[in-house]
Amino acid sequence: MESAHDWHGAKALLEWHIELGAVDAIGDAPVDRYTLEPRQSKPEEKPLSQPGARPAKPTAAPQTDYVALAKQAAAAAGDLAALHAAIAAFEGCELKRGARNTVFCDGNPAARVMIIGEAPGRDEDIEGKPFIGRAGQLLDRMFAAIGMSRGATQSKDAIYITNVMPWRPPNNRDPSAEEIAMMVPFLERHVQLVAPDLLVLMGNTPCQTVLGRKGIVKIRGNWDDAWGKPVMPMAHPAYLLRNPAAKREAWADLLAIQSKLRGLS
Ligand code: URA
Repeated sequence: MESAHDWHGAKALLEWHIELGAVDAIGDAPVDRYTLEPRQSKPEEKPLSQPGARPAKPTAAPQTDYVALAKQAAAAAGDLAALHAAIAAFEGCELKRGARNTVFCDGNPAARVMIIGEAPGRDEDIEGKPFIGRAGQLLDRMFAAIGMSRGATQSKDAIYITNVMPWRPPNNRDPSAEEIAMMVPFLERHVQLVAPDLLVLMGNTPCQTVLGRKGIVKIRGNWDDAWGKPVMPMAHPAYLLRNPAAKREAWADLLAIQSKLRGLS
């Protein structure tokens, strides 16, 4: 059982690491190296098989089908609160073990526009909300330029934001195909429950996840359809921060979104 002593000891150790300059977890999941088995110096000797005996079949441990579990859990979620709880309870994805928070959403669930990003970064992991770091602040300014915000109470002016991955990958690496495959059922259910008029995909990861293709520099600005919605791929705001010249195209994409919304209403 965990004692208060263990807890305070672990906290002091963590603070000491931070004082030494550690800023980030580098593995997908914490590893308690004290509990690792000592290495075997010699491989175990196998009994000799009898002449003519059939070689024993290797016994594979049964694998859990986390994609199937994710599909079941997502389908059973009847509303956003239930979906949030189902994601937070999902144990299939290793990223969860290294994350501080499950980052589910921000904005108005009645919004006409649902924005899908990649995964939380450091700030989002700490705060538990998507797109609140520098890239998120740019995203807010971009949508403010067409009169939309996450704080708006009227659905016509509101945006709703989520990510493909609810947990921060260590060192902000790209999520793997397996990690994404487990979380797609939750994302698709998320889109069903919010039922926006259109989706905006920020960068390559959501394009690959929702449209099955990437190459954002080429596909941005071109309307597509997925999951029963019009979809606009856009350059990720973090890319725009590094490539300010691409903001002109992002502005054109925002105007295309505004005009699509007018056409749909
Ligand atoms: N980048 C993303 O794609 N999502 C966030 O929440 C933050 C940064």
